[in-house]
Amino acid sequence: MGKMRKPLIAGNWKMNGSIGLAADLLQAMQPGLEESSVEVVICPPFSLLQSMGECFRETSVSLGAQNVHPQISGAYTGETSAAMLNEMEVKWCIVGHSERRAQFAETDALVRQKVGTLLQHGIQPIVCVGESLEEREAGKHESVVVEQLKNGLSGLAADDQLRCTIAYEPVWAIGTGKTATSQQANSMHLTIRRELAELATEQVASEIRILYGGSVNAANAAELLEQSEIDGALVGGASLKTDQFPGIIAASNV
Ligand code: 13P
Repeated sequence: MGKMRKPLIAGNWKMNGSIGLAADLLQAMQPGLEESSVEVVICPPFSLLQSMGECFRETSVSLGAQNVHPQISGAYTGETSAAMLNEMEVKWCIVGHSERRAQFAETDALVRQKVGTLLQHGIQPIVCVGESLEEREAGKHESVVVEQLKNGLSGLAADDQLRCTIAYEPVWAIGTGKTATSQQANSMHLTIRRELAELATEQVASEIRILYGGSVNAANAAELLEQSEIDGALVGGASLKTDQFPGIIAASNV
């Protein structure tokens, strides 16, 4: 039996890609998209948002950003606001990615501010949570993830929480070729859902989508996406590959 939640496959291009790749990827994805009941989002670097918006205009693929500034305008050199994302028809935005937490001091409090700004501008946040290897080995993975989740969504009304998507990305599985086992991932997703039932409502807990991210590829996607609590994937490296990303979309189409 299919899940009630519509699968979502999001590609995070990080600081990679080109308009040429966007066109090639679209061509590779197209046959699968037509009969698919999966939602597909690509999050390219800021510099490609405008041209990719044009490239994807007549398609079912939506556009996401990888970051946003919590303020709407002002003296913030190098930053991009939610109002600017609106102008480029960006519908989604990743927040709290572990690379931004580690390299750009993105704290839970900043994640929460960004989530609020995005929701005010009608952009759906993809809120990333995940533990490091050290934290997992110390048995702290669940508490670390629950804390990130609580802080990232704190004080939001239930209907705003419902507009968020959570991405569980264990840091040790990102770009390493080492995925969490489907059991490890599903078990963390269940923990997240249980926490949401406490933090928010049963409805939020059962309807919110929780994606898995970390070394997802065309070969391992089906087993992950089959799990009861995994509603899609946040894909890094394999979202840049025309022979991988379409296979991930197909794997979620069950
Ligand atoms: P990889 O798929 O390259 O491991 O990256 C995952 C990720 O960080 C997506 O946001």
